[in-house]
Amino acid sequence: MSRPWNATHAESHLPKALQGLRIPAVASPLFIISVPALVIAQCKAGVIGSFPALNAREGEGEHPLLDTWLTQIKEELDRHNQANPDTPAAPYAVNQIVHRSNGRLERDIEICVKHEVPVWITSLGARVEVNDAAHSCGGITLHDIINNKFAKKAIEKGADGLIAVAAGAGGHAGPQSPFALVQEIRNWFDGPLLLSGSIATGDAVLAARAMGADLGYIGSPFIATEEANAVQGYKEAIVGGSAADIVTSSLFTGVSGNYLRPSIEAAGMDPDNLPSADSTSMNFGEGSAKPKAWKEIWGAGQGIGAVDAVQPAGKLVDRIASEYHAAVARLAGEAG
Ligand SMILES: Cc1cc2nc3c(=O)[nH]c(=O)nc-3n(C[C@H](O)[C@H](O)[C@H](O)COP(=O)(O)O)c2cc1C
Repeated sequence: MSRPWNATHAESHLPKALQGLRIPAVASPLFIISVPALVIAQCKAGVIGSFPALNAREGEGEHPLLDTWLTQIKEELDRHNQANPDTPAAPYAVNQIVHRSNGRLERDIEICVKHEVPVWITSLGARVEVNDAAHSCGGITLHDIINNKFAKKAIEKGADGLIAVAAGAGGHAGPQSPFALVQEIRNWFDGPLLLSGSIATGDAVLAARAMGADLGYIGSPFIATEEANAVQGYKEAIVGGSAADIVTSSLFTGVSGNYLRPSIEAAGMDPDNLPSADSTSMNFGEGSAKPKAWKEIWGAGQGIGAVDAVQPAGKLVDRIASEYHAAVARLAGEAG
């Protein structure tokens, strides 16, 4: 796998963990769906792979599954790197939900420090202690935000970089246009900036960079991969769906998010007449009913029209990478 992306100049301001990727992209963490097999495939394919720490749920009294997963991911990527020194795997990232209902946060942070996790993705709360913990083991933190105010707060609290979650993203999407969000953040922030929301092609990754972001942050397309922990019907709904099938609602988690219309109908609800819920109903605790809701109500962003097959994650990255290089060449040709 060659890495023709000549990024020496473009990358020089980025922390080392974000440099040297095959294409400037991160595969984002997906609740329930991102498991070690998917993360390993993403990293081997040359993009940063990630998973939410909360996906690793052990039974009562069992050894922390997060510890086991991190050992597995590191061993597998080390083996790959020894066998493929010219095309090493991209680093992996762990997502921490920094919300008061996440009773595991402290324990999960300790495990991540022990494993020296290189990239920490934090959501739903910016906290100095989490950033300090990541820095204590040489890691960097990327905090996801939906507006400029939260972006400023995240950097004040010590995050190294930002993930701008714009309109059309899967999961807890923001309401703002990516153009507005990136431009407002770039007015004052020149550190690592990732952009998310409907990025599903290499052309869109390049567009994110043209807009001023450093990397694209891609979620929903990875649901339709062989390694994803999702039922076949969900994967097929991603393949068959398009932007018109995405419904925005706060009902399922207490925060506005994007979901596949057919899954809401299958759960016996009318997607066009959903009641709203407020953020006090968010719960990421062990006893939460929400994982069940997430299993039955399928999250997805508006970019899924670009997904036309369930395939191995490596093949999806190959497709996005070749589109990216073609788009770079096309625009370079126009400029020249
Ligand atoms: C089903 C699903 C689950 C998600 N779970 C998480 C999560 O646990 N933590 C998180 O930070 N983001 C989560 N996200 C958001 C994604 O990481 C990312 O921001 C988003 O998918 C990007 O938009 P896209 O899906 O249009 O590519 C989730 C998104 C989806 C679709």
